[in-house]
Amino acid sequence: MSVSPWSLRCSSCHAPAALEGASVCPSCHQPLFATYEPVPAGTALAGRWDMWRYAPFLPLAADETPVSLGEGLTPLIEAPALAAQVGVRRLWIKDESQNPTGSFKARGMSAAVTRARAAGVPGIVVPTAGNAGAALAAYGAAAGVPVRVYAPATTPRPILDTIEAMGAELIRIDGHIGDAGRMANAFAAESGYFAISTLREPYRVEGMKTMGFEIVEQLGWRVPDVVVYPTGGGEGTVGIWKAINELVASGWLPGETRQPRYLVAQAAGCAPIARAFAAGAEKADPWVDPVTHAAGLRVPSPLGDRLLLRVMRETDGFAGTATEEAIRSWTRTLAVGTGVDAAPEGGCGLSVLRDAVADGQIAGDAEVVLFNTGSGASYRA
Ligand SMILES: Cc1ncc(COP(=O)(O)O)c(C=O)c1O
Ligand SMILES: [Zn+2]
Repeated sequence: MSVSPWSLRCSSCHAPAALEGASVCPSCHQPLFATYEPVPAGTALAGRWDMWRYAPFLPLAADETPVSLGEGLTPLIEAPALAAQVGVRRLWIKDESQNPTGSFKARGMSAAVTRARAAGVPGIVVPTAGNAGAALAAYGAAAGVPVRVYAPATTPRPILDTIEAMGAELIRIDGHIGDAGRMANAFAAESGYFAISTLREPYRVEGMKTMGFEIVEQLGWRVPDVVVYPTGGGEGTVGIWKAINELVASGWLPGETRQPRYLVAQAAGCAPIARAFAAGAEKADPWVDPVTHAAGLRVPSPLGDRLLLRVMRETDGFAGTATEEAIRSWTRTLAVGTGVDAAPEGGCGLSVLRDAVADGQIAGDAEVVLFNTGSGASYRA
């Protein structure tokens, strides 16, 4: 293989890290970021119709074929009636339900499994709130790499069924994703399987960047005023922010471009990031007894806490929460108002957006992109 066109550095202390066996920063244990030479503006994007179209910005060697199932290039659907209902000038739904296995998690797994396969791992293990496990099962099958998934037994049935249908070994656990993480790490240590947990390896977030590239390109190479992201572990939000930083740094967007304001949407029953943001903290305390039917948001102690809080601080962003009842009602509004098969996470985002407009945090002339991160079908047992 040719020389790697990227290197790894700590996202916090900037210490360099080896590519081989990369996990978190060896000195401060924060997530590692891939860094690249700037991609000159106007460089041809790849001639393919999936997220690897943005290959010049992604961890792919020149002679390498990614593990791909047609992820990304999802529609950005304008929703004028919903915009009027919540009180913003323009609102688009980035519909991530249209990915393989029905969520944005496909993007991260396409990138991370590509790197894990290149490293020759004997198998891959993941702790998941649900959708990441289904995505890994699919990409493991595509790569011919064995997969083991640790998921809460309360994960919606269609998601658990998908994991097994793709041939992965599913361990249903009595607990949340944090408990699953401890079990996955123990299994990785004893088996030699590679643990591919959120932000504990550097490449899932690289796949997530493609959501940022896409919304910018779909809007005509400009950024919206606000990005609303239903956030659990943080790789989606952090990925979009990293992408837009890279577009500005390499001159694809004018140097004076301001990042969108990031609105981190969480469930009231598991809101460690929103609570820490309200307290002005730099890191989040674990959320005791996390409960929400928006399964992807049930992440009580995300490793990305410091990064997420930094993203909000640096972009004049903010966080909000939605009750279970509000999530249900706004999920229905999102689906009925647009025809998008809204997941509860998307409904949470819409609820938080509406509240932020109602209490004046978002101006009525704002242009907003809301992520529907998953598929409603995955939650209909
Ligand atoms: C549908 C859905 N939305 C949102 C999230 C949270 O995403 P992130 O971990 O990138 O914050 C998840 C995570 O599992 C998810 O499955
Ligand atoms: Zn560090």
